[in-house]
Amino acid sequence: MSERVGAPEQTNFSLAIAPGSPNRRLVSPRPGPAPQPRFFATAAKGTESLLESELMELGLPEPRAARGGVYFGRRPADAYRACLWSRIALRVHEQLASFPCRDGDDLYAGVSGVDWSRYLDGERTLAIRATGRNEHLTHTHFIALRTKDAIVDQLRARRGSRPNVDRDDPDLLLFVRVHGDRATLSLDYSGASLHARGFRAEEGAAPLRETLAAALVRFSGWDGCSPLVDPMCGSGMLLIEAGLWAARRAPGLSRPRFGFERWSSFDDDARRTVADLRGEARACARPAPPLLGSDTDVRALEQCRANAARAGLAVTLEQRALGEATPPGGGGGLVTNPPYGERLARSEHLPRDLDALLERFAGQQRALIVPRGFPSRLRASRSLAVYNGPIECELRRHDALGQRSRAIESRSEKPRSEKPRSEKPRSEKPRSEGPRSEGPNPAGPPAARRLSFRSKKEPGSPQRG
Ligand SMILES: C[S@@+](CC[C@H](N)C(=O)[O-])C[C@H]1O[C@@H](n2cnc3c(N)ncnc32)[C@H](O)[C@@H]1O
Repeated sequence: MSERVGAPEQTNFSLAIAPGSPNRRLVSPRPGPAPQPRFFATAAKGTESLLESELMELGLPEPRAARGGVYFGRRPADAYRACLWSRIALRVHEQLASFPCRDGDDLYAGVSGVDWSRYLDGERTLAIRATGRNEHLTHTHFIALRTKDAIVDQLRARRGSRPNVDRDDPDLLLFVRVHGDRATLSLDYSGASLHARGFRAEEGAAPLRETLAAALVRFSGWDGCSPLVDPMCGSGMLLIEAGLWAARRAPGLSRPRFGFERWSSFDDDARRTVADLRGEARACARPAPPLLGSDTDVRALEQCRANAARAGLAVTLEQRALGEATPPGGGGGLVTNPPYGERLARSEHLPRDLDALLERFAGQQRALIVPRGFPSRLRASRSLAVYNGPIECELRRHDALGQRSRAIESRSEKPRSEKPRSEKPRSEKPRSEGPRSEGPNPAGPPAARRLSFRSKKEPGSPQRG
């Protein structure tokens, strides 16, 4: 039998009433296990804490970072909002069922315990992605096949028709994960991965995935109102993600539809809810601040301009080497993604040039994504270990400095590093990495809760350097 993960509302305490007491006295609260939120937003490894703070800022209930993503929310509208607004999430799943599963028969029985007619009819198509293994279930292909058989058999028996499989563009995408003696079924709400915003037609040599670019912008502490500079902008993912964020443009607004809009259960009420969310998103867009990019490569600049135009953003671009980049007047931010890998090996000056750049921009919020251990003589205000695809990277943030603190940053010390949230036990309160409270709240719609911020696999496309 399958059991629903986290869906029902449960009380956290059982109240014991002393028998015979005239006052029905409370004897002792007995703590029960905290019920798991219903949805799970997946994220690139290391960016979970940033996604957690983003979902919190979007007003989504109970965000809890875990390995590979963030649990949150209970109502379908929570999942719809995350699909529409999250810049860092890759996918949004509903954890549908989790059951003991040692072999193919257990898997078939567990999958059969879910009512699939809620999502599928004879016309709709299905795809299954399987991960994991155990002693008896050693092939993901077999796991996917048994899962599909259980769904198809159930629907054929109930309705006399069966859904077809469409691996590329299914109406319903189901993830099945076998781990030890358990299997978990997760429904994909997103459809295509959420990193695909629809504006990227032009790819540079090593573009940053949109979701990781958004994570870096969030980590940077840039206020979202002042000018933003990327002096190695390539095809422009950082400038564009920053611009969309600052302009309060919901990244999912350009999608024709999400995965959940293709299910049988997507009824008129759900349609109205999503239409309202889209309307709210359209209403809160505002102009972006100046977005200033430069690069030595003219072709990259052309790509950046074309991508930005498709995203509906104006960018100011110049062909210029790193060493010539200077900060615009009046503060602002700098984010960048220097080349690494083979190209770094050929460019021994890059670490030195980057340090000089960070020093010239000392009055701005600055952040970069570099491979772990990338040499620098500057002390970062904070750093976060992340993965860019399979590559171990680090987000480094250098807070804007006054004249006196510049000397401290120039001391060659290791940055204060934070382990990816997923590697820490979930005990302390979520800590936000986002913009500080004095800035606007560009992450989400006006209805979203405003929080103050204290300063302080679907892996991304690997950077080829
Ligand atoms: C990793 S790519 C940046 C990718 C970018 N974030 C994107 O999303 O497309 C690094 C960029 O730095 C540029 N670059 C390398 N050395 C440079 C230098 N010394 N000055 C300015 N740009 C440089 C390259 O032309 C390349 O476009």
